[in-house]
Amino acid sequence: MFFDDHREHGLRHSPFKALVAPRPIAWVSSVDAEGVANLAPFSYFNACADRPPTIVFAPNNPRPNGENKDTLRNIEQTNEFVVNLVGYELREAMNLTSAHVGAAVDEFELAGLTPTPSVHVKAPRVAEAPVSLECRFLTRLRLPSDHPEVENNLVIGTVVGTHIADHIIRDGMIDMAAYRPVARLGYMDYTSVESVFEMLRPD
Ligand SMILES: Cc1cc2nc3c(=O)[nH]c(=O)nc-3n(C[C@H](O)[C@H](O)[C@H](O)COP(=O)(O)O)c2cc1C
Repeated sequence: MFFDDHREHGLRHSPFKALVAPRPIAWVSSVDAEGVANLAPFSYFNACADRPPTIVFAPNNPRPNGENKDTLRNIEQTNEFVVNLVGYELREAMNLTSAHVGAAVDEFELAGLTPTPSVHVKAPRVAEAPVSLECRFLTRLRLPSDHPEVENNLVIGTVVGTHIADHIIRDGMIDMAAYRPVARLGYMDYTSVESVFEMLRPD
C-alpha cells in the first residue's frame, strides 16, 4: 500500500508510530522555578550526537487544559533537565508518571520513586533508573502542525553528566541483558531489549 496524506491510510489506526519502532523512552525529570519536581515519559526521543553527547525529545500536544506540558515549561524556566532511561522493572512506574495531573503533583511520589540529587542540574534524577543523563537545555524548535489543537516541539539538550548503575556494567561494557531498556512500539505496545547481535562494519 501507499498513502501520502497521513489522515487517509484506511487502516484501523495511524501506523506511523508502529513503523518507526522501537523508540527509546526519555523519562524526563525537571523542576519549576519554585523547585517542584516533575517526571514524565517521552518516546519521541533519541540521541543525535556524541561529541558532546546530545539528545532530542518532543514534548508535543498541549495538555487537555491547553497549557504546555509541565516538562516543557520547566525546562524553559530552568534551562536544565534529566533524561532517565527505563529498565524493564520500571515499566509500570514509568507509565504511571504519564498521567495528566496538575503541576503541583510530584510524579516521583505518585509512582513511588526516589528523587535523588543530580550533580550539575537542579532537577533530581530517578534513583531507581539504571541510567540518568543530566542535560543542559540547548534550544526548542517549534515544528509545523496541521491541526489547531496540536503543537509540536523539539527540545535539544547537551548531556553534562552521566549516571550508570554499577549492575549494568560488565567487563567495561554496558550489559544489555542486565539493562533491558524499555521502548515504545505503536498502539499500546512496548518492547524491551532481550537479544543482541553483533555486526562489524565493512571498512
Ligand atoms: C511511553 C509513553 C511515551 C510518551 N511519549 C510522548 C512524547 O514523545 N511526546 C509527548 O508530548 N507526550 C508523550 N507521552 C505523554 C506524556 O508523558 C504525558 O502527556 C505527560 O502527562 C506529560 O507530562 P508533563 O505535563 O508533566 O510534562 C508519552 C506517554 C507514554 C506513556
